[in-house]
Amino acid sequence: MASPHIIVVGSSNTDMVVQADRLPLPGETVLGGDLVIAPGGKGANQAVAAARLGAHVTFVARVGQDMFGQEALSNFQREGLDTRYVVQDPDAPSGVALIVVDSDGQNIIAVAPGANRRLSPADVEAASPAFSEARSVLLQLEIPLETVMAAAKAGRSAGATVILNPAPAPSSPLPDELFTYVDILTPNETEATALTGHETPEDAALVLLRKGVDAVIVTLGEEGALVATGPDQMRRVLGFRVEAVDATAAGDAFNGALAVALARGDSLDAAVRYAHAVAALSVTRLGAQPSLPTAEEVDAFLKEARSLS
Ligand code: RIB
Repeated sequence: MASPHIIVVGSSNTDMVVQADRLPLPGETVLGGDLVIAPGGKGANQAVAAARLGAHVTFVARVGQDMFGQEALSNFQREGLDTRYVVQDPDAPSGVALIVVDSDGQNIIAVAPGANRRLSPADVEAASPAFSEARSVLLQLEIPLETVMAAAKAGRSAGATVILNPAPAPSSPLPDELFTYVDILTPNETEATALTGHETPEDAALVLLRKGVDAVIVTLGEEGALVATGPDQMRRVLGFRVEAVDATAAGDAFNGALAVALARGDSLDAAVRYAHAVAALSVTRLGAQPSLPTAEEVDAFLKEARSLS
């Protein structure tokens, strides 16, 4: 079967990662291990996750003309991404994320978006030839909202499945119009509450379904995910328990894998289970993109999980 074609419109960052016994409190300094510098950014992570799982991925993004931007571009090419629509912005630095990871694998992240802030609807328009070939369009919220809107609209017009991972959690409500272009929404619990004001995943999913999306998948970490396709069609799809090293990019691994599995024709629940496996593997390794598994690694993991169940 031909590789499914996926477009990711989103951010690219260089991650500066420190592992420490625990996360610092406000005003506190903690001493950690050696600095690890690794490619990250929610958009780039999702693009690389999908490519490592066998998809043909077009990435629409902006990086700077600095050393980080040059390295990011070379990395995308090594990963086999279609980089025709990655712009090296002459007027902004590349995005950078500062990350601390504790001994349980939990993290805190602060992002300096740089060129990501300048990814525009015109950049989406420039990539329109790719939209007409894509099976899925995968979006996050680390770029300007107007650009997310333009990409969702372009995906809908092209007949692609539009998946919006509303991360990081928005600080103000998203416009109702955006939901009308989205097929599948994939918040985690924090994001689901930020989008709706509701604490339980079920209540949040109901509100989001009413806004017009076909499916809401609320990811629940080790508890798996709530999959909601209608008021009376809500079920839990369980995940996999693993020894956590670093949860960074687990959500990105999940979304990249979900897009690939759906684009190759898996049912929604089967795609969520596959995405759980990819996210679980990513949590066992340090870093964002360094943690993303290949299709072969995921197949071996699922085979072993089946033999243990
Ligand atoms: O989702 C993880 C990502 O969030 C990191 O790679 C960091 O760059 C931030 O964008």
